[in-house]
Amino acid sequence: MTEKKVWRIAVIPGDGIGAEVVHEGRRVLDALAEDSGGAFAFEWESFPWGSEYYLENGRMMAEDALETLEGFDAIYFGAVGWPGVPDHVSLWGLRIAICQGFDQYANVRPVKLLPGVESPLRSASAETMDWVVVRENSEGEYSGVGGRNLSGRGPGKEVAIQTALFTEEGCERIMRFAFEMALKRERKKVTSATKSNAQQYSSVLWDEVFARVSAEYPDVETEQWLVDAMAARFVLRPETLEVVVASNLFADILSDLGGALAGSLGVAASANLNPERRRPSMFEPVHGSAPDIAGEGIANPIGAIASAALMLEHLGLKEEAGRVNRAIEATTGAGLLPPDLGGTSTTSEVGDAVLTHLSGVPEST
Ligand SMILES: NC(=O)c1ccc[n+]([C@@H]2O[C@H](COP(=O)([O-])OP(=O)(O)OC[C@H]3O[C@@H](n4cnc5c(N)ncnc54)[C@H](O)[C@@H]3O)[C@@H](O)[C@H]2O)c1
Repeated sequence: MTEKKVWRIAVIPGDGIGAEVVHEGRRVLDALAEDSGGAFAFEWESFPWGSEYYLENGRMMAEDALETLEGFDAIYFGAVGWPGVPDHVSLWGLRIAICQGFDQYANVRPVKLLPGVESPLRSASAETMDWVVVRENSEGEYSGVGGRNLSGRGPGKEVAIQTALFTEEGCERIMRFAFEMALKRERKKVTSATKSNAQQYSSVLWDEVFARVSAEYPDVETEQWLVDAMAARFVLRPETLEVVVASNLFADILSDLGGALAGSLGVAASANLNPERRRPSMFEPVHGSAPDIAGEGIANPIGAIASAALMLEHLGLKEEAGRVNRAIEATTGAGLLPPDLGGTSTTSEVGDAVLTHLSGVPEST
């Protein structure tokens, strides 16, 4: 008999609905493990880091947090941010600290319309809306380079400079990642989105690297678009997209738009990958802590459960990831939807339905 594989997963539920949706993802993964006939199991360790921790300890996570997390196979993350702690403090102190600390430079954000969900795009269908945003996740506009000064000149005189940092190496590795992903998808196509008309240094460097890397992938169709036109194209011609690669800020904005077009931010999943696997990768829904609905039990857990499926894929459990995704599709396809998708189901009712559909879901979609 082969030895049981135990995956050690660090859980950081974070703030607001983070804890509510991560709970559902854990239930789904534990059910899969139970069903695996002893082939694998998940050992979870939860960390209380987030805004409450900050108010008590003056920091968003423990001082040795990265050393602690290093020993895990993956990190499952909820969301961070809460009124009372400035957003730049909470985001930089936890999520960005982990993404950059572990060089999780590829942020993968699928945009997929689920059966039974109505997109604001009238002509979109589950077949035509299925693309992936690959976000550069280690530098660009989120390099933290800049400063504030001249406050000594008196009220209203302070200046702030925030500089975007683009390296040839950083551009090249995220583009290679996008091309490798495109090779595995049905339609082999990569679209790069920049703003080279206005940003003559950083975006032009990005474009040049894109042209160079493209030449190495003759089997992949390529396109280069300005990001503002790209936003319009997400809405007007979603069926023409497959893999979209863009900088940290541009792809962050585009993937929220993608989530909204797929029905709600609540369904959008994401993986922060260290593709070389030298450090743990982190999996989280795209949405934030949603203080406006936190504690009401109505948060949509689909983004968090689909992120757990991305984690399964990363761990090599492809078949199980497929089961989770099909169970999500069966759930929405049966019309069981939370309020953000126009239904009335609660967070745990959606979680229960996904669990029910885990077994015996027909191979569809
Ligand atoms: N990755 C992260 O941790 C992350 C990402 C974005 C925002 N934030 C933080 O979250 C806090 C709130 O930010 P925001 O309001 O701009 O974004 P948000 O994603 O938390 O919420 C935006 C809107 O979408 C709704 N929504 C989001 N997720 C949902 C879900 N699963 N089910 C149903 N509805 C959902 C919310 O109710 C809200 O109306 C801020 O502190 C922000 O910094 C964190």
